[in-house]
Amino acid sequence: MGIPLRDRIRNTSVYKKVGVRLNGLKGRLYDMRHGVHTAPEIHLEDLDIESPNASRGGNYSGTEPNYFRQIMDGLELDLSRFTFIDLGSGMGRALFLASEKPFNRIIGVEFARELHEIAEANISKFRSPEQKCFDISSVCKDAAAYELPDTPLICYLFNPFDREVFERVIANFERSLNASPREFYIIYTNPMHNDLFAASPAFEQIGEGPWHTLHRAAAKA
Ligand SMILES: C[S@@+](CC[C@H](N)C(=O)[O-])C[C@H]1O[C@@H](n2cnc3c(N)ncnc32)[C@H](O)[C@@H]1O
Repeated sequence: MGIPLRDRIRNTSVYKKVGVRLNGLKGRLYDMRHGVHTAPEIHLEDLDIESPNASRGGNYSGTEPNYFRQIMDGLELDLSRFTFIDLGSGMGRALFLASEKPFNRIIGVEFARELHEIAEANISKFRSPEQKCFDISSVCKDAAAYELPDTPLICYLFNPFDREVFERVIANFERSLNASPREFYIIYTNPMHNDLFAASPAFEQIGEGPWHTLHRAAAKA
């Protein structure tokens, strides 16, 4: 069977260009409504990043709000038991979108200090009638060196880094799960290195959409 028509259209340069413009517009609208600044796309070369992984990171762009909400609405979980963590959280858009759900706590981990500082300013200004979680913070740290909290987790990854950093991050996930087995879900958007999760005995893939995959910690035999 050939590539489905929908996927062929999505791969055309016209579709991609229109998509980028539309996402920029949706981002600016989101910012106006919520009193924050998350819309610009930023190349990491233009930032001062103190990390050996600086050249291994993906550029900053904020998550598309409606797609994120669709993913969240599809999670059949009592989210009040979970900490939401965005690894590579940039200016914090995914943190604000996550706060529309009653998470116990929301944490962003971002290695670019300039983006982290914008996220902190955004946290103090953010307003939304839909907000259900008010415990939102941003940590300035390399995701590969970040120690996960010992609580049930939903970890969000929007194409943040290259394969080598991903391998280290997944090894950290595995260590953390071994030390403290618990509910642990991963939402991986634009999943370019999904094979690394497939290869990890600690996780099983339980869902996917056009732009993401969903994994959870595998039950121990
Ligand atoms: C595509 S953006 C996603 C932004 C945010 N998660 C969202 O969905 O709105 C990727 C982000 O990952 C950050 N990043 C890349 N490598 C990182 C690393 N090793 N540790 C922490 N952050 C990293 C980049 O600076 C950038 O802000």
